Amino acid sequence: MNASQSGAGEVATELKLDGPRLAAVPARREHVAQMQACLEGAPDYFARTEGRPPGPGAAAHLVDESEADPNRRVFVLVPRVGGPAVGVLDLHLDYPGPGTAHIGLLLFRESCQGLGYGKETNAAVEQALASAGFDTLRLSVVDENVDARAFWERLGFAEVGRLDRGVTVYEKRIAEE
Ligand SMILES: CC(C)(COP(=O)(O)OP(=O)(O)OC[C@H]1O[C@@H](n2cnc3c(N)ncnc32)[C@H](O)[C@@H]1OP(=O)(O)O)[C@@H](O)C(=O)NCCC(=O)NCCS
Repeated sequence: MNASQSGAGEVATELKLDGPRLAAVPARREHVAQMQACLEGAPDYFARTEGRPPGPGAAAHLVDESEADPNRRVFVLVPRVGGPAVGVLDLHLDYPGPGTAHIGLLLFRESCQGLGYGKETNAAVEQALASAGFDTLRLSVVDENVDARAFWERLGFAEVGRLDRGVTVYEKRIAEE
């Protein structure tokens, strides 16, 4: 069975994205303030990619979008030991086509970057999506985000294309053999 046969909504409810140190909690209204703090805690990312800090409604907008689209899944990443959220994960299932999942955003507060959380979260995403029948994980990075390009390449993602405005598309095959 592949992802499209099972239906994205059904697959999504089965996704278990918890890692060894972080729980991935489906984002809801109650998480907006913590998510917004994570976004505002990563000013370098927004300066590089958007040229300005995140807007005051950025986190609420993410939750709105995920609630409106059954293929869109936004998670807040929370330490299992407790404490405030350290990051945000935004996934588009069956995008741009069946069997592919696109990482719209994986972001940690700057104080929580470089601690291995990204690698752990991506491993959990790969495992859960492969188990659910997805065969490809995809994402795009703007040229200005040099660190993110190095991170994804370190995790085994390969460049598969270039879009207008200096965006590189990366993919990694995740299908279970
Ligand atoms: C990019 C990001 C998600 C990476 O998560 P992270 O927790 O900081 O990265 P990790 O600590 O898990 O690093 C994993 C590996 O990538 C390597 N890596 C990370 N950043 C790197 C860089 N700039 N250059 C070279 N290697 C890098 C690490 O050395 C580590 O290597 P290892 O396998 O030998 O341990 C995080 O830094 C972040 O939130 N950045 C801002 C938002 C962003 O740019 N998101 C990506 C766009 S969608």
